Amino acid sequence: MPHDIIIAPSILSADFAKLGEEVRAVDKAGGDWIHVDVMDGHFVPNITIGPDVVKDLRPHSKKPFDVHLMIAPCDPYLEAFANAGADMITVHAESGPHLDRSLQLIQSFGKKAGVSLTPSTSETALEYVIDKVDHILVMTVNPGFGGQTFLHEQLRKIHAIKKMIGDRPIQIEVDGGVSVGTAPLVVEAGANALVAGSAVFEDGAYADNIAAIRKAAMSGRA
Ligand code: DX5
Ligand code: ZN
Repeated sequence: MPHDIIIAPSILSADFAKLGEEVRAVDKAGGDWIHVDVMDGHFVPNITIGPDVVKDLRPHSKKPFDVHLMIAPCDPYLEAFANAGADMITVHAESGPHLDRSLQLIQSFGKKAGVSLTPSTSETALEYVIDKVDHILVMTVNPGFGGQTFLHEQLRKIHAIKKMIGDRPIQIEVDGGVSVGTAPLVVEAGANALVAGSAVFEDGAYADNIAAIRKAAMSGRA
């Protein structure tokens, strides 16, 4: 049964020496999507993994692979991530001048297309693409690293995006500093999908952590 609130463990906080095992573990622990952070050392000051790693991880879970591209340019790599088994591909509005083209490309490969906004980007960047996106990912930290502090002023942005969306079937995903403490706030503001890295992986109790975040998130609906 798909959950009402989506919890997407970010494998950025996993042990990279045993990624396949970690993906199986967060799947079994109740994660709804597997969030994969791709960084290029150019768009963001960190480097992670590419499409070959995504391809090798694919057989380890049947859950949707939610691939968050923090790379510029992104267009030359979209097909490779689609072929590697991504189900959802998110690009940053700030990563290039042709966001509309990037979204069209992702959908042309039969994948769900999303836009992410860094903390300093206004929700108005979505105005002319909102009818083309499947999901919107609001960054509540500056992208590049796990374990950063949640930026509370982003709640206002989530709220504004929820309003912009109206009755369109667009998911609002939040990424960065999501924990038991902040989950209710982002859900209250309008998010339905929560990415969590350190809050899931920190002490090894993946199932307990996912359940606790989900429970806290649900309280934001009350
Ligand atoms: C940061 C990544 C996040 C990161 C979140 O640039 O996009 O997905 O893993 O980590 P936490 O949940 O620890 O803030
Ligand atoms: Zn991410």
